[in-house]
Amino acid sequence: MFTNTPDLKLPTLGSMPDGILDSVFIHHLAFVESPNVGSGTRIWEFAHVMSKAKIGENCNIGGHVFIESGAKVGNHVTVKNGISIWDLVEIEDDVFLGPHMIFTNDFMPRSFLKKKREDFLPTFVKKGATIGAGAVIVCGITIGQYAFVGAGSVVTKNIPPYGLVVGNPARLIGYLCQCTKTKFALNMQAGECPHCKTKNPLSKI
Ligand SMILES: CC(C)(COP(=O)(O)OP(=O)(O)OC[C@H]1O[C@@H](n2cnc3c(N)ncnc32)[C@H](O)[C@@H]1OP(=O)(O)O)[C@@H](O)C(=O)NCCC(=O)NCCS
Ligand SMILES: [Zn+2]
Repeated sequence: MFTNTPDLKLPTLGSMPDGILDSVFIHHLAFVESPNVGSGTRIWEFAHVMSKAKIGENCNIGGHVFIESGAKVGNHVTVKNGISIWDLVEIEDDVFLGPHMIFTNDFMPRSFLKKKREDFLPTFVKKGATIGAGAVIVCGITIGQYAFVGAGSVVTKNIPPYGLVVGNPARLIGYLCQCTKTKFALNMQAGECPHCKTKNPLSKI
């Protein structure tokens, strides 16, 4: 391993990078280069966190996750297994990322066209949103707060706050309360969730 770069010093699997908090859990088979990880976060087997990635507090970073330098992950975020979070992806607090969902950051990639960072497009996932298993998020979009992306959907446009989208291409089919018990119709009027009594989600934005 790395025999052509004998002077390269790399952290080893399971080691705590300099400056990282003791309260971070790193599985002995994870490879964490970034010290910017918040208190209480757990990072599981075969995850790789690059040196300039930022992760907040109390996150759960599943096995086989890759978090690139430049990516930002907020607090209390669940990153299920097998997800890659690229540079220019920003994830706010309380977001749930379902297993093997896919982010992108190059809108029209060509292997033979070399690009600079400014040629890539950002993706924003706002507070409390959920992205279902295996969904694909085409770059350059914003997923609104508490929005919900159904499993396997291909998201090509911005999703409004509380928006529930499914399918390929993903279409808005309603609005989902943050408690998930109540679905509001597309043409919904003012009201409140009978379960959690939250006011009509649209009135909060
Ligand atoms: C979207 C979801 C929450 C269901 O929401 P819902 O409001 O109860 O939706 P319904 O089951 O009433 O379905 C409404 C319509 O959308 C369709 N639909 C539901 N989920 C869909 C999906 N993921 N992709 C495509 N269409 C979907 C239904 O077939 C139905 O279509 P129809 O009106 O033609 O019959 C659920 O299907 C889903 O995808 N959950 C995510 C699961 C997941 O990824 N978990 C990750 C952790 S393990
Ligand atoms: Zn509710």
